[in-house]
Amino acid sequence: MRFGLVLATVVMAGLLASAVAATGRLNQFAGVDSCKKCHAQEVEAWQNSPHARAHKALPADKQADPRCVQCHGSQQAGVAGVHCENCHGAGKHYAKRYVMKDPVLSRIVGLVDVSEKVCGRCHTETSPAIRTFAWDRMWGVIQHGKKTEPEK
Ligand code: HEC
Ligand code: HEC
Ligand code: HEC
Ligand code: HEC
Repeated sequence: MRFGLVLATVVMAGLLASAVAATGRLNQFAGVDSCKKCHAQEVEAWQNSPHARAHKALPADKQADPRCVQCHGSQQAGVAGVHCENCHGAGKHYAKRYVMKDPVLSRIVGLVDVSEKVCGRCHTETSPAIRTFAWDRMWGVIQHGKKTEPEK
């Protein structure tokens, strides 16, 4: 009887974890307005950054072109451009106070540690940069949050 109960609990936990994993794959964005409720300073820094303007930078006839929007962003969760969740991971499941305060849980449900590798998804050898990607300068331009020197 007790074994059955333990087994049922284990099965339930497994189902919950796979449900979260499955919905996570659907890219469920919470949206910049949601982050803004608790991270007003970060949102302000982002609004003044080139990423917020990345979609507008596309010529009019390219704004819906899938070849361009994969890096320049499209209309997602009410925002166009490269937004918070393109770097930090889709936030539907972590953008809640009790989850955010738990560094382990928030990462299980989608929060990503942003490193230079994440930048490299879009800042490739083919992107039209005048200078090659140098982390110190590039991070300096979009810097936000408390840590001034994040791990590479
Ligand atoms: C209900 C409030 C709330 C919302 C909404 C929220 N956060 Fe948070 N976030 C927090 C709190 C509280 C922390 C814990 C650290 C702190 O006090 O700054 C945190 C921490 C973080 C961290 C650092 C986590 C770590 O462990 O290193 C990141 C990155 C972050 N939030 C991004 C986001 C993004 C992106 C969104 C929107 C998709 C978002 N947050 C929405 C409250 C929130
Ligand atoms: C692999 C990702 C990627 C793809 C795909 C991509 N871009 Fe970009 N694009 C970038 C990056 C990254 C930059 C910024 C480079 C820098 O300045 O360091 C950029 C910059 C630009 C700029 C200059 C913006 C400015 O404000 O100066 C234009 C214009 C542009 N891209 C147009 C396009 C068009 C049109 C397409 C589709 C045909 C496209 N891009 C596809 C990543 C991409
Ligand atoms: C181009 C990628 C990128 C975008 C877009 C971006 N961030 Fe970040 N963010 C980072 C990096 C890199 C760090 C520093 C490393 C880290 O703490 O993960 C960071 C740090 C943070 C932190 C602080 C974490 C800490 O421990 O102090 C918060 C909070 C945060 N970002 C929220 C946001 C919000 C909210 C947005 C949208 C308005 C946003 N970020 C947009 C890359 C990005
Ligand atoms: C989803 C795609 C994407 C990701 C991920 C991304 N970027 Fe960008 N980034 C762009 C695009 C597109 C532009 C061009 C925007 C424009 O100029 O209009 C850009 C422009 C920039 C610029 C302005 C160009 C310059 O040389 O000053 C900086 C700085 C920058 N990104 C830093 C970063 C950093 C640092 C990261 C990782 C933490 C990162 N980006 C991740 C797409 C991305």
